[in-house]
Amino acid sequence: MTDLTLTRRSTLIAASALIAWARHPARALLASEGEGAHGAAIDALLARMTVDEKAGQLTLMPAAWGGSAASALNPPRAGGSFDAQLVEVRGGRLTGVFNGNGAEMAQRMQTVAVRESRLRLPLLFAADVIHGHRTVFPVPLAEAASFDPSLAERTARAAATEAAAAGIDWTFAPMVDIARDQRWGRGVEGAGEDVYLGRLLAAARVRGFQGRSLADDDAVMACAKHFVAYGAAEGGLDYNSVDVSERTLRDIYFPPFEAALGAGAGSVMASFNDVSGVPSTGNHWLMTQVLRGEWGFKGVSVSDYTGDEEMIAHGFAADARVATRIAFMAGVDISMASGLYRDHLPGLVAAGAVPIARLDQAVRRVLALKARLGLFDDPFRRIDPARERARSRTPAALALAREAARRSVVMLRNEGDLLPLRASGQRISLIGPFAEGPHDLIGPWNVYGDDAQAVDLATGLRAAMADPALLTVTHGSNVLAPFPGGIDAAVAAARAADVALLAVGEAQSMSGEAQSRTAITLPAPQQALVEAVAATGKPIVILLKNGRALALEGAVLAAPAILVTWFLGSETGNALADLLFGRASPSGRLPISFPQESGQEPFYYAHKTTGRPNPPGPPQPYKAHYQTVGNEARFSFGHGLTYGRFAYSALSDGGGRLVWGGRLEVGATITNYSGREADEVVQLYIHDRAASVTQPIRRLIDFRRVRLASGQSAPVRFTIARADLAFTGLAIRPTIEPGAFDFWVAPSSADGLAGRFELLAP
Ligand code: NOJ
Repeated sequence: MTDLTLTRRSTLIAASALIAWARHPARALLASEGEGAHGAAIDALLARMTVDEKAGQLTLMPAAWGGSAASALNPPRAGGSFDAQLVEVRGGRLTGVFNGNGAEMAQRMQTVAVRESRLRLPLLFAADVIHGHRTVFPVPLAEAASFDPSLAERTARAAATEAAAAGIDWTFAPMVDIARDQRWGRGVEGAGEDVYLGRLLAAARVRGFQGRSLADDDAVMACAKHFVAYGAAEGGLDYNSVDVSERTLRDIYFPPFEAALGAGAGSVMASFNDVSGVPSTGNHWLMTQVLRGEWGFKGVSVSDYTGDEEMIAHGFAADARVATRIAFMAGVDISMASGLYRDHLPGLVAAGAVPIARLDQAVRRVLALKARLGLFDDPFRRIDPARERARSRTPAALALAREAARRSVVMLRNEGDLLPLRASGQRISLIGPFAEGPHDLIGPWNVYGDDAQAVDLATGLRAAMADPALLTVTHGSNVLAPFPGGIDAAVAAARAADVALLAVGEAQSMSGEAQSRTAITLPAPQQALVEAVAATGKPIVILLKNGRALALEGAVLAAPAILVTWFLGSETGNALADLLFGRASPSGRLPISFPQESGQEPFYYAHKTTGRPNPPGPPQPYKAHYQTVGNEARFSFGHGLTYGRFAYSALSDGGGRLVWGGRLEVGATITNYSGREADEVVQLYIHDRAASVTQPIRRLIDFRRVRLASGQSAPVRFTIARADLAFTGLAIRPTIEPGAFDFWVAPSSADGLAGRFELLAP
């Protein structure tokens, strides 16, 4: 059977299923109510459901469709046959599946659900659409470097449009975990170390995914994950325990979740870790008191993959039945992948260990969500193979991927204006394991992208060069192991060129889930490669591929030009060529601090001062420092160069007195004294000099991107209100205290013009 006949046949099936569905009482009940007003209809539906069917509505499974990504990404539980899964659908034991593959699969499953299950409840299709679907955008950490929430909103919108056309209703994104330990591999999925930037990006991504209305056929529901403090895993070891104070939760780890929910995120995922002894999945305080009670969240909560069952390994639940009760009563509505709710909730309800009211509450939330997604109106609204093809990798989406990739790159150094390169007449030697080939382009946690469809570096450079024959490509080394003759060939190639570009760093399997590293350095064979090429005396440009901050050493650190290129997605090579040849200027800023050595981790700019701060410069006796390195970052949060050059002057403190209910305008003049137009990201930091709880040495509270032509100056103004100065006080309440504050209008967290103001008592 050809694809076409299959598609036609399944379209016909879907059409007849839709007709049957249209006559079904559940549809009539729910579709008539309009968005957000389904209460009575859902109650009527609930009254007709058995306890088993209710437990089914709370059971989400990895898709078993042949070739689905779920099996590759979540190996412990994947498997089982598609037919067996259809039996579950028929029996009403499944609310939906995730990480399946495409509209055709969704069409077949949905058809069975709405034609053959007793209550004909539509299925929900979920997926990890983290940074694009088939068009792959830069990894979220890279995109955070753009310091541009509107860009993140646009890429999330484009990802949603593409994913929704492939039948996906719900994405397990955005990941909004603050990550301050670069050994942890999952920082690559989030927005980095900073709370303010994290909040803005969390909200922007939710808006992008969910669009104008969840019922639209190009909207997918967002899921803020992983609630909570997953990034604070001890030792940077993924899945490890977290022990942080409630104040730290409220000041650091909660705010991006609050921002995501404030932007309307329809769901929240519990994290794998325990928080101060209680696994999030079984944490009633987190999942109910805070989430529902304090924040008024009305959507659905879901466990992470087998997170409920893992409470047994945590030593928190004696067996699967107890784990089910604990997770469910803590407030986790949907169980992902373990099947625990399906298997144990009916027995627990029968035994009186779980009140039916709680079961109905969770099912009601799930049905309300399906209604908001428009699935009762039309279960096939996002399932259309023709639309899936038409919306896949469109020119507009690829252009956006190129723009986002360009804007994600951070230039750490550019001595002697080595960059941009000349697109003609310059012999370029491109060296390194990431120089060419369909690998390590799309980055971790991309389920549907394909490296083979992404543009690699060599291809991008050649396409931009007047004479592509002036580019030579030499691998020099594998990612983790040398190969015979590799370095000799690279040295010879560099000698024959005017400039050597070294594409070195981490493979995409070195960050992401379960990819913690103890030393965040360049793998030794690649370091040896760079040392040898640098020793030729040719100018070198380091093109770092990385999913986390790296501790750079030796010739890599000493290189005259260094670009952080992360994992840039579908348009990697084209975007890098745009920057390297100066068609666009690098403009990204580090969303994470690069330490001097791995042993400084966890390492972040907004640390406390301690009682014995080491003054800037060399270590002083009995001050807080390591024996071998100073406390400064190698490259600071917020740092990033452009092909322009900027000066900060004329700091204004707006009078230096902020009255309690008022606003203070501070600012500076920014001048581009270079020969070309470029963007500057002007950042505003504060420090509370004395408070009832010790405060970070600096904290970002605002930033502004300004584009200035050559020679142009512009005033940049920020407004500070007392709410910007709040922290969680001794009584675990938002607290604002009058007193003296430092502020900086700055190009990075380690620099800037410093001023001072006073918050006056009310
Ligand atoms: C486990 C990961 O922690 C989570 O982020 C992801 O959404 C699920 N697997 C589903 O793939």
